[in-house]
Amino acid sequence: MSQLTQLSHPVVQHHLAALRHVETQPAEFRRLVRRLTTLLACAATEDLALQDCTVQTPLVSMTGQQLSQRIGLVPILRAGVGMVDSFLELVPAAEVWHLGLYRDEETAQPVHYYDKLPADNPVDVAFVVDPMLATGGSAVAALTTLTNWGVTDLRLLSLIAAPEGVEEVQGRFPDVAITVCVVDECLNEQKFIVPGLGDAGDRIFNTQGSD
Ligand code: PRP
Repeated sequence: MSQLTQLSHPVVQHHLAALRHVETQPAEFRRLVRRLTTLLACAATEDLALQDCTVQTPLVSMTGQQLSQRIGLVPILRAGVGMVDSFLELVPAAEVWHLGLYRDEETAQPVHYYDKLPADNPVDVAFVVDPMLATGGSAVAALTTLTNWGVTDLRLLSLIAAPEGVEEVQGRFPDVAITVCVVDECLNEQKFIVPGLGDAGDRIFNTQGSD
């Protein structure tokens, strides 16, 4: 069974409440997504491999440590894009590989529309980022694509998850570490997370009126 980490930090709970609020406007919503992503990324990267390096301080030469792996950051379009900048603040050398997936409104099945992954030379570890883990269909599609690329250390970061989505990913990818701010109650009939926060992509990009 893959490891599920939920953040219990009080600062996470505070910002999550504001993120959920229906009156939170897109500019503030984006700031909250970035803040929460920083906290998620701290938790999800705590076991990354290190190698020794020599550092010349103003006083002496010493042995420091640096990240030793090629790290991939994989935002699922569109909403995952809102999580990219804050992750890159922590891991500036990460390679960003976008995956285009949207959920068909009738069937709730993921529709794949973009990737430019190379045929070989996969990253050592890939962090899939998407604010919402609902049915898990999009996450499973992304993790399948990355597995086919050859990535063996896969991790998933979401702000809010439904139990159904967690179970789906754990069933299909038992080795993938999942880090979320919270697992909500359930999905509703339209496969939206309840209580949730609505549609993260629309709230990040201010396209709520587009349906
Ligand atoms: C949302 C969300 C995830 C997906 C989650 O994206 O950002 O990608 O749905 O649902 P699932 O777990 O049931 O697959 P959406 O399809 O709304 O696309 P968008 O990011 O372009 O708005």
